[in-house]
Amino acid sequence: MNQMHNPPQVASLRSRIVGIDQQVPVLGGGWRPYVNLDNAASTPVLREVLDTVNRFMDWYSSVHRGAGFKSQVATAAYEEARGIVADFVGANRDEHVVIFGKNATEAINKVSWRLNLAPDDVVLVSQMEHHSNDLPWRARARVEHIGVDDSGALEEAQFDSLLRQHAGRVRLVAVTGASNVTGYLPDIHAIARRVHAAGAQILVDCAQLAPHRRIDMRGLDDPEHLDYVTLSAHKMYAPFGTGALIGRRDTFEQGEPEHRGGGTIDFVGLDSVSWAPAPDRDEAGTPNVVGAVALAAAIKALSDIGMDHIAAHEADLRGYALERLARIGGLRLYGTGDAPDGSRHLGVIPFTLATQPHGLVAAALSAEYGIGVRNGCFCAHPYLIRLLGLSQAEVAKLRAAMAGGDRRAVPGLVRISFGMHNSTGDIDQLATALERIAAGRLATTYRQDRDSGDYIAEGLPMDPDDAFSISRRGLSPTAGPAPGVRG
Ligand code: ALA
Repeated sequence: MNQMHNPPQVASLRSRIVGIDQQVPVLGGGWRPYVNLDNAASTPVLREVLDTVNRFMDWYSSVHRGAGFKSQVATAAYEEARGIVADFVGANRDEHVVIFGKNATEAINKVSWRLNLAPDDVVLVSQMEHHSNDLPWRARARVEHIGVDDSGALEEAQFDSLLRQHAGRVRLVAVTGASNVTGYLPDIHAIARRVHAAGAQILVDCAQLAPHRRIDMRGLDDPEHLDYVTLSAHKMYAPFGTGALIGRRDTFEQGEPEHRGGGTIDFVGLDSVSWAPAPDRDEAGTPNVVGAVALAAAIKALSDIGMDHIAAHEADLRGYALERLARIGGLRLYGTGDAPDGSRHLGVIPFTLATQPHGLVAAALSAEYGIGVRNGCFCAHPYLIRLLGLSQAEVAKLRAAMAGGDRRAVPGLVRISFGMHNSTGDIDQLATALERIAAGRLATTYRQDRDSGDYIAEGLPMDPDDAFSISRRGLSPTAGPAPGVRG
């Protein structure tokens, strides 16, 4: 059995999460505290983030626009947030800029525009990427995919051979800091060394990595530096609509921005435009200062807790979960590798059950046990096709069915993903539930919807839109004793 690091601190981590005691309805009419095992999609909100946002709201005003005192306060907070983000990723303000935007997807699209790629420039993209770090490159350059092996890890030898094959034409290598499907951690600095030796640059999509591990971009004179890093605050306990791009200042000090408008210019005449210096040139329109403040508050909280402590706790959870899941008959793991200590993976574990489809497993976990997971293909279809070993004929058949509006046969996995607030108790609840589901002990019948492929439980006690509405109070208990079943 795994030894947990500092177990008492788990309670203190849980107490920092907004909604940690939220009850959800389950079949049979009871309520249970929600077990959130879907943190790779979005993390919940940190209490410190909400408190800082609330404190800031009294001072909220326009950024970079007004002369009033509140505008000056809001502008100072926005620029303070920029500095906090830079420090968090080991950026250096002389060499790097921090550009705020909506999310990591927008940030990657921005780099793909700002690099002025020619159609025959080569961008190497790993096959494990989220679509957001693949499709923007396909639109602007010649993309060559770096394959993955049976264990879901990057094909290092093939990567080297692609660098050689396209020598002189590779402009960029785009790779995730951590897979959102398997949690696999590519050795980004070793990759960066090879990329720079080949005269190219590297973008690391850190949306999945940032809330779990330290990031260190390093100075441009370090051969293992990262040229561009992207963050999404909704995966960092701060879901207020912000992401960040941290990248080489020399890329953003020249050239034209992708989006043009207020804030991006120094001067506009009827037939001329002088662009503003970086980062303003790339932040068109009124910035989301609340989102920036929230992201910075989350970073402060994560740093205060300690990224190493978070990493150790989540690695323990992963080890414990792998042990518990291994005891469930018919449960197959994907891409977990052979390092149970978490040195090569985040706490993200995908699996299937031999006896039940992935969609039904996820639906039953929610409807019968109040456990939230995600199932399907996780916006990473090429990786899923490889992990599931689908043939071209199977993929073609599937695409034809989907084109006809039938998603019932869409393949996929069930994914659990940990946040710092998760406990071994959460994993025990999951394992007990999975044992029953695997054995066919379902509390109701599940109907599969043709259009979405989702499974719908018969007899759910409440529709989600009855639990919360903007215009009226919901019916769900928020905390404290529930009027029914407890975990
Ligand atoms: N990309 C996010 C996920 O993996 C949404 O769930």
